[in-house]
Parts: sequence; C-alpha cells; structure tokens
Amino acid sequence: MNRMMKSVGRLLMAGVLAFASTAYASDGIEIHHLGVNNTLVRITGEGKYVLLPVQDSNDDAAISVLVDGRLERKINVKLSKNKVDYYVPFDLEPYSGHEVLLNVVTTQSRSNIREVKDDACWKNIALSDTADVANRENYRPVFHHSPLYGWMNDPNGMFYKDGVWHLYYQWNPYGSKWQNMTWGHSSSKDLVHWEHQPVAIEANGLGAVFSGSSVVDAGNTAGFGENAIVALYTSADASQIQSLAHSTDNGQTFEIYPGNPVITLESEARDPNMFWDARQGCWVLTLAHALDHEMLIFTSSDLKEWTLQSAFGKGLGAQDGVWECPDLFSLKVDGSGEEKWVLVCNINPGGPFGGSGTQYFVGDFDGKTFKADTDSSGNVPTKWMDFGKDHYATVSWSDAPDGRRTLIGWMSNWQYAAEVPTLQFRSANTLPREAGLFSGSDGQIYLSSSPSPELAVLRGRQVVRAANKSAGKKPREFELPADNGGICEILLDLDCRKADSVDIRISNNADEYVTLRYKASDRTLSFDRRNSGIVDFSQDFPAVTVAPVFEEGSKLSLRLFVDRSSMEVFGNGGKFVMTNLLFPTEPYSKISVSSLGGNAKIEGLKIFSINDSFSSR
Ligand code: FRU
Repeated sequence: MNRMMKSVGRLLMAGVLAFASTAYASDGIEIHHLGVNNTLVRITGEGKYVLLPVQDSNDDAAISVLVDGRLERKINVKLSKNKVDYYVPFDLEPYSGHEVLLNVVTTQSRSNIREVKDDACWKNIALSDTADVANRENYRPVFHHSPLYGWMNDPNGMFYKDGVWHLYYQWNPYGSKWQNMTWGHSSSKDLVHWEHQPVAIEANGLGAVFSGSSVVDAGNTAGFGENAIVALYTSADASQIQSLAHSTDNGQTFEIYPGNPVITLESEARDPNMFWDARQGCWVLTLAHALDHEMLIFTSSDLKEWTLQSAFGKGLGAQDGVWECPDLFSLKVDGSGEEKWVLVCNINPGGPFGGSGTQYFVGDFDGKTFKADTDSSGNVPTKWMDFGKDHYATVSWSDAPDGRRTLIGWMSNWQYAAEVPTLQFRSANTLPREAGLFSGSDGQIYLSSSPSPELAVLRGRQVVRAANKSAGKKPREFELPADNGGICEILLDLDCRKADSVDIRISNNADEYVTLRYKASDRTLSFDRRNSGIVDFSQDFPAVTVAPVFEEGSKLSLRLFVDRSSMEVFGNGGKFVMTNLLFPTEPYSKISVSSLGGNAKIEGLKIFSINDSFSSR
C-alpha cells in the first residue's frame, strides 16, 4: 500500500471506529472501546515500549498483538481495573515503522462502556522510551539470581561456552504470576554476577515455550554449524510436543526449526533434557512422561530424529505427583572412583515436605536403559537432593568446564510461589551447586551438593570468629553483620557430644526466628520457619523440614548462606542441603547456639558479611 492510501485507510478506519464507539487518544495511543469487554488500542506515536498497567489480583485480559494487520502474538495480562500495582513493558522496537494494534478482550463483568472507560489501565497505558526496572523489593535477593521483573520458574536450557555460563528460565515478561511462558536469559562469567539478556525464545504458533535443555553441537551433527547451540523445549498448548531451535550467536538469539515438532506422543510429556553420550557416539534425551510418572529415554544422531529406547520409573520412588524436569549424568563415587549414573526427577506435588521436591535415582545406564540401584531388600530407595521446601526443577549445565556437574534450582514451591510477598518479581534461583557422589553408611550411594567454588567471592568482612566455646542451656549469642541488613555466610563446626539436641537460632529484634535443631537420637537436623517472619500468605508456608545428617559421630559442620529472603544450609560438606525461603519483617541480627541434655562445643564459628559489591546492588 502506498503512503497516501495508507493514511486514507487510517482516516477511514478512525472514522468508522469513532462512529462505532468513542475513540480518544492519549499521547500516541488511540483507545477504542467496542463493547463491555473488547477494546482496540492503536499505537500512533513513537516509543520503544508501550507500558501496560497491571493489577496483580485482576483477571487476565487476552491481548492479540497485530502488526500490519497480521496476528503477531497473543499474551495474557492482568490489566488494571482499580489500581496500578506495576507496569510491564511491551517491546515495540521490533515493529518500528509498522502498524501495531492491540485487540484486548477482558473477562471483567461490566454493565456499560462508561464503566469500562473508568478502568485504570486505559487511563495509565503509555508509550515510553524507557522501562523502569529499578528494584523496588526489599525481599529481592542480593546474591541469588532473580529476574529483573515478572514471574520466573524453572531454570532450564543452561549451557557453558567460552567462559560464559548461560542460564535460561521460564519467564513471564508480562506479570508476576505464571503464564506467557518464554525462555528468559541471563549470563555470567562466574556464576555469581548475572547479566540480564533479552528474551531468548518466545511463544509461537505451536504454543508457549516450556522447559528444555541446550547443548553445544561441537560436531555439527544437526547441520546448523560447528558449535551451534541447539535447544530442545516443550511447545505447550492443547498438547505438549517437543520443539527444536538453534543459535549461532552463542545463545543470544534462537531460530525455530521449521520441521517442529521433533517428538510427539499421545500423552503429556515435557522438559526434554539431552546430552552427548561419547561412549556410543550419539545424543541421549530424557523426557518426563509427566502423568505416567516415568522418564522416557530417546537417542538420536542428529538432534532431529529421536528413537524411543526405554522408560524408567513406573512405580518407583516418590510417585505422588507429576514427574517433571529430568536430568541424567554420570559421576565418580568419592573415594572409590567407581562411575555411577544419576537420574534426576523433579516431582510436584509429593515432595518430602509437601508440594515440589527433587528426587533422584542412582544406578547404571547402558546407553539405552537406566537401572536404579536397590537396597538390601531389593527395593529402589527414594532419595532427595534437598531437604527444604524451596528447591525445585533442578537441572545441570551442559558442557560445564573441568568435568564439573553444576546444578541450579528454582527456589520456590508450586504450593505458594504465586503468593509470596513480592510483586515486582516472583522467585529467585538457588545458589549454584556442585554435584558429587558418596557412599552412605547403609551401603547406598547418595548425591552431594556443595556450594560452587565461585561463591567464595561473596565473602566480605569477617565479623565473628570464635572457637572452643561450650554451649549449654543458656544460648551463646553472636551478632550478624548489621551494615548490610544481616545477609551473610556462616561457617559453624559443632561437636554435639552427649547433648540430646542442639539448637541454632537465627533471629531478629521483632522476635522472628528460624531454629535449626540437631537431634542426636535420629541424627537429623530440622529447619523450623514457623516463626520466621511473614508466613501467613499460605497455609503451606509455615513448616519444619528435616534432613538426615548422613554422618556417624557427634560432629556437625554447617555452611549457611543468608540472603534477604532465603537461607541455604549445606551440611557435612554438602552431604545434605536444606533450602528454605524466609520473609522476616526486619533483617535477622543474631545467631545463638544452645543445647539440651549435655553441653555442645562450638569448635569454630566464622561469620562473613557479604561483599559490599553485592549488598549495594
Ligand atoms: C516445572 C514445570 C515444567 C514445565 C514448566 C512450565 O515447574 O511444570 O514441567 O515445563 O514448569 O513453566
């Protein structure tokens, strides 16, 4: 269409619309109400973004984005009715020079157009060259990865290449609740400082972009080029099917494979996770057959054609929820050097303390079939990777350097993730962890998770150093660093000796506290957050989680990371971990140790403030 025809067309269109309803403009935006639940928004001005006003508790509006009259994408946004909780930017830059029209269908009950016009979203929608993403949340973690804004769940598609750790994640860029799934992207040179990158894979005609994995295709098996990044993810709409995409700019942008989907089944299957099996010279893929509570194993020579080889898991391990987000890798067992395979199987609900959790199986994999180890009575034991409530969808980086198996999880729980007291963003990731295998005293092989070595840069000033102090009934107290709001790393070595129980309490001046209790009778450490601060946003949040300490004897060695809204407890060199969210109304300021039934000895206590370069962020 030539220029003149285009503007005549526009005039005609505006005339027709003005006749059908009342059209009015607000700084480069024309709004045309067509009825009680349908509004057209035409972008007539300049701006990088259209800022959409959101009210988190409102119903979704379904927005079809039309570019030059063609449907570009559909998104759901909780457009504001009475108030604006925050704005989400919709990026107009890719459509610069084109006609953009938003066809908005709301579900809100309205009796007439006058009421519709009063909605806060139409009064506040605006064009802007900037999107204000400055942090407004006290509970945003300082040294854990979190999205700039919006909802995040599973980490997925992670790979390492040329010194950079790439982290993709399930992201809703248009609100702080789960929907509109895309692959958000962050990258880091040290697993600690994260840079936010543009969205990597967006929804397309096959559906939303659910979790998956990426590999570096060093041998160009897929034909996208040597060292191309190849991603496989679940396209989710009425069905769940597996789709391929590739990147030739190191994971910055992806091209969707025109032959998608590459795997289809007749039942729900998702979260494909692949690796190169050097032994047999082909790709191996695990896929969660979610409702069947099993993992399917496929192989391929070119990442496009996949052959189903086997299924693992029916009736084994925890079965009370859907099986999701698998991972399969081998590790050497500490001490013996024996190679064993680990099949990670995230499950929701049915986790050890309700809701989500990460179970794993240790066994052997012959390239086609995974076989889990059994215990002395021939049963496959249920094993958990983390004994907190907030550790889910945990998977590892592919191509990590030096043979490392580095894992990261989503630090929340589907029971209450959408209700936690934050608004601008929801959810962070766990700290990155290094996986290992060790033999337990029961003859079983278990997975250990220790903090990644890069986390050493977190350490700032040492604020406490104590040794050889006895702790009895009367608590021995130490201050946490006050200068950066209590966030810290704590190293505590205890000899629990003959004590029946030892309490480690982290508290603030508002009488909020977390109690870690070591119980000698069953060699467990529990984590009680029932009094930790804000807990009433969900009945599932106040909880006590319990971990076996996996060691004989009376010694207990703990490494604790306290961030603004979480605490991770790594015990006995990573033999057990507990990850739990916390929302204290003021920062924790003290740690105390006391014991019952005999004195415990604090063999060593070191508390480090977190490096200022983090706390000032
Ligand atoms: C796990 C999960 C995955 C799915 C994704 C969708 O938390 O349910 O199975 O791919 O979230 O966001």
